[in-house]
Amino acid sequence: MEDIKTLLHLVRPYWQRVALAGIFSLIISGINASMAWLVKPALDNVLLEKRTGLILLLPVGVLLIFICRGIFTFLHEYLMRSASQKMVMSLRNRLYGHIMHMPVSYFGKNSSGSLISKVINDIGAVEAVVSLTLKDLLIEGATIIGLASVAFWRSWDLALISLLVLPGAFYAASKLGERLKKISRRAQKKISVITEILHESFTGVKIIKAFSMEPREQERFEDNNRDFYRENMRSVRVSEFVSLLMEVAAGLGIAFVIWYGSRRILEGTLTIGDFFSFLTAVILLYTPARRLAKVNAGIQKAIAPLQRISEVLSIQTEADGNVELGGFKNEILFRDISFTYPSSRNKALDNINLRIKKGELIAIVGKSGGGKTTLVNMLPRFFTPDEGNIYIDGADISTLTFKSLRGLLGIVSQDVILFNTTILENIKYGKPGASRDDVIRAAKAAYADDFISEFPDGYDAIIGERGLRLSGGQRQRLSIARALLKNPPIFILDEATSSLDTASEMIIQNALEKLMENRTTIVIAHRLSTVRKADRIIVMDKGRIIETGSHNELLGREGIYQKLYELQFRGQEGRSV
Ligand SMILES: Nc1ncnc2c1ncn2[C@@H]1O[C@H](COP(=O)(O)OP(=O)(O)O)[C@@H](O)[C@H]1O
Ligand SMILES: [Mg+2]
Repeated sequence: MEDIKTLLHLVRPYWQRVALAGIFSLIISGINASMAWLVKPALDNVLLEKRTGLILLLPVGVLLIFICRGIFTFLHEYLMRSASQKMVMSLRNRLYGHIMHMPVSYFGKNSSGSLISKVINDIGAVEAVVSLTLKDLLIEGATIIGLASVAFWRSWDLALISLLVLPGAFYAASKLGERLKKISRRAQKKISVITEILHESFTGVKIIKAFSMEPREQERFEDNNRDFYRENMRSVRVSEFVSLLMEVAAGLGIAFVIWYGSRRILEGTLTIGDFFSFLTAVILLYTPARRLAKVNAGIQKAIAPLQRISEVLSIQTEADGNVELGGFKNEILFRDISFTYPSSRNKALDNINLRIKKGELIAIVGKSGGGKTTLVNMLPRFFTPDEGNIYIDGADISTLTFKSLRGLLGIVSQDVILFNTTILENIKYGKPGASRDDVIRAAKAAYADDFISEFPDGYDAIIGERGLRLSGGQRQRLSIARALLKNPPIFILDEATSSLDTASEMIIQNALEKLMENRTTIVIAHRLSTVRKADRIIVMDKGRIIETGSHNELLGREGIYQKLYELQFRGQEGRSV
């Protein structure tokens, strides 16, 4: 009952359709009942009394009845399916929107494959079941009531006898339903694993090929696919067993009814018309009863994916603030920031205090794993500090709307994400209203115009998934052009050039310097000469700021920076000169 309520709740917005479908299902059940009802007058009044004049009426009447039933079944089906499809569509939209508003940490905890599986497979499973189940519930429920009334009217004692087998059958069906719920949950997990494998192997296809791991991936896929098959077959066995039970129960009931009914006819206490009318009702009852017994199984199957979906929907999304910040005027302040990743034991940031004035160029350096990326990820609130607050112009960033906060920031990082569309669309991703001229201007400033113009389609060239056709340096320049076009007051460069060769790096260096003009910039760098030009250099290690100062100050201090410099920057300079 609870479960039926859950399903009904989902289709509530489409109640007009469902209500109309309900009315049609009443009509259909009326037609079914009237067929059983008319057996008596047909037998007793037409055939047994040999009224030849009425004999043509029978086939014509039957034909009309079937046509009517067909039409109403069509209408009913159409309305129910459209209600359930609409429900599924809006549930899918809601789920996607909800997932997209999850904090970044959620995407760290859940693989893309399992998220895709939720939106595609779980919702698909709900869709299949809801449309069939709700339809059966309405139409078969009403039909059973109609036919049972006829059966009782014709011969109440026979009707009672044939009903005796039902409770047992329904009890068994409900027990099996519980098993189905478990099976369906396991099957849903399996299909999620399969989606994960698909996602991983298609995105990682190069690695797989490079290590010749296709056979292993194939095996992994087949193993999981086989498990999925097994779960499905388990589910088929259980739900077909329900049908088997109903079959046996119906056979028992009808056999007993025929034996008892024939005796009553021979005794003369029951007319042939009454008996066959009754029998028709009971036999017609049999199909809907079997379907209804399976409704529970269907609902149990939908419950598992529904629970997975509602689990996701119940997770809190990123809490948006409500303060609109007009622009960036004064300073960014990190105050006593500490942060530990949920999956980790060590603090990634340990009591960070940092003040960045408007227009400053701040460089963050330090060993890898020191917390540099984590620190800058706090600014767009990709992660929320466990302790401390961050202020922009005195406003706590957790009170700002994401739109106004993230609108202030331009982020260029090492891994460039390009979408599967034209270069033009990719560059104006953050500013859809930008004109073609704006895009070209940004591309020129990012030193990207040259190589773009060499493509036959120029700015309209489609770049494949993840921009496979571009080199690392070209991709990087596109991402710089994208950031330039957005033109935010604060720039964050997270090792933007560390994956590039020296020649590309020098070109990009120029692009970056253009980007930094008249802006507040935080640059995380391995080997950039930018570091030397920085107003201030922050050295991080183990989540803490261990040194700050200008290049010359830090060199004079003979601390970690000086060592890093000896190790990396001088070697780098030696190479690039
Ligand atoms: N998503 C994450 N989940 C758990 N730990 C992380 C995550 N990202 C980074 N870390 C850990 O946090 C520490 C700081 O990482 P990071 O800020 O990326 O360092 P850096 O950018 O200085 O190389 C490292 O120990 C790293 O292993
Ligand atoms: Mg990093």
